[in-house]
Amino acid sequence: MTEETGGAGVESNLSNSGQDYETAAPCNIVIFGATGDLTKRKLMPALMRMLHCGLIHRDSRILGVLRNRSEAEWHEMIRAGLHEYSPQLDMDEEKWREFLPHLKMVDGGLDDDTMYQRLADALETLGDKKNAMFYCAIPPEWYNRVAQGLFKAGLVSEEDGYRRLVIEKPFGSNLATASALNKELQAVFKENQIYRIDHYLGKESVQNLLVYRFANSIMEPLWNRNYIDHIQISVSETIGIEYRAKYYENSGALRDMIQSHLMQVMTLVAMEPPVEFTADAVRDEKMKVLRALRRFDPDQIAVHTVSAQYASGMVGGERVAAYVAEEDVSPDSSTETFAAMRFYIDNWRWQGVPFILWTGKRMKAKVSEVMIRFRKPPFNLFDSHASVPAANALVFRLQPEPGVVLRVNAKKPGLTTDNEEMVMRAMYASDTSEAADAYEILMHDVLTGDGTLFSRSDEIEESWSIVEPVLEAWKDRVFIERYRAGTWDVAAMDELTKDCVGGWHKPTLHE
Ligand code: BG6
Repeated sequence: MTEETGGAGVESNLSNSGQDYETAAPCNIVIFGATGDLTKRKLMPALMRMLHCGLIHRDSRILGVLRNRSEAEWHEMIRAGLHEYSPQLDMDEEKWREFLPHLKMVDGGLDDDTMYQRLADALETLGDKKNAMFYCAIPPEWYNRVAQGLFKAGLVSEEDGYRRLVIEKPFGSNLATASALNKELQAVFKENQIYRIDHYLGKESVQNLLVYRFANSIMEPLWNRNYIDHIQISVSETIGIEYRAKYYENSGALRDMIQSHLMQVMTLVAMEPPVEFTADAVRDEKMKVLRALRRFDPDQIAVHTVSAQYASGMVGGERVAAYVAEEDVSPDSSTETFAAMRFYIDNWRWQGVPFILWTGKRMKAKVSEVMIRFRKPPFNLFDSHASVPAANALVFRLQPEPGVVLRVNAKKPGLTTDNEEMVMRAMYASDTSEAADAYEILMHDVLTGDGTLFSRSDEIEESWSIVEPVLEAWKDRVFIERYRAGTWDVAAMDELTKDCVGGWHKPTLHE
């Protein structure tokens, strides 16, 4: 428990576990971008649930910064957002009545210095402190302006309560812009006041990776190059780029998913046990993984990466357009909607073990997984019979239906020593509202001052420095491989995984 926290533990709906979580001290929760999409889809539903179950102190207030609207109109917008994105919450009148009095508005634009002054005036001392969390649900180009505005209005110093800044990815678009952003923010806030959200780290199933690794003694002896052939970490999506063409055209799948979410997951899979479960101890270990990642020469990049773009096709029984036919996408765009990269971690534990990270939009299935493929049995005792034992696999399903699947070989029943694969499943949670839960977990961590699940500035810069040569190599390409939407037809993946036992692992649900 940190010094700002206190109060009785309360039953929370976090992961529906019935566990006790601590109620954070009262806080002024300030949202920049109070009418934006992130606020409507994720933040408001999460805050409403958190308040209801006691994760947010009842004396807390939620201050939305917006302009050209009245407070009543803003409330209406939030309600409409709930109706659209969280219908169950929208129907819950009791929760809404409880939530509404906490919502206050501060009028003004982000570039208006008087707004920050009004915000300073609006911050109340709650309990005995003027704690504040500043959530930037705004485009990243505004982060520095907001930090400057807060600073000028005297809202950064922590004399009368904590001040925490929350920002969302993308943290820059390459190494130079990421380090410039870090410098700008660190000129105003101390590093431990900055919380960089990667919502993947807030997912129950991602945190569970750490528990599986470090709360079970049977895992550690196997968790290395002696037993593991390779690891595939994947986020396969069926959605396209939705309404975000302008962002995505300049981003592509490598920046959007691999540099951030997937590399973060890889660090958790590969890191050494931290000396304690604290923010800096965990982040130090993650950082060591990033530093040990092999850098590729420019002429090696094509060998270790794959990029592709979706053509039209059928997804979930419906015809969908090609990426280049999406609104606001250039008809000759070569932006990748599928990206894969093979990493090597040059340290004692992982030397020679490929980590294949891949992600794609408009794929055949929506599944995110970490698949650990073990080496083949060293010698096939049962070779005289028809079946050759398959290499074992341990799959951490991140979503949907989070859980763990272990594939082992077992004897076929009857007068034979032939074997067949037996699939052992332990699906530990249903994930009806997982994305919102990730925000609940992460905002609760901000309120309690726990930075363990947030990225530190050095991690961000290190991961950019690793993908940067790939971005450079891809920058001027004119041709990009296409795959039919709703399929796994990315031929280059077979080549990328040809030395991996079992080849490209295409995730299937209900296996
Ligand atoms: C976001 C990406 O960070 O993560 C999106 O910008 C992607 O493109 C999303 O769709 C995936 O998140 P989730 O939680 O749905 O797997």
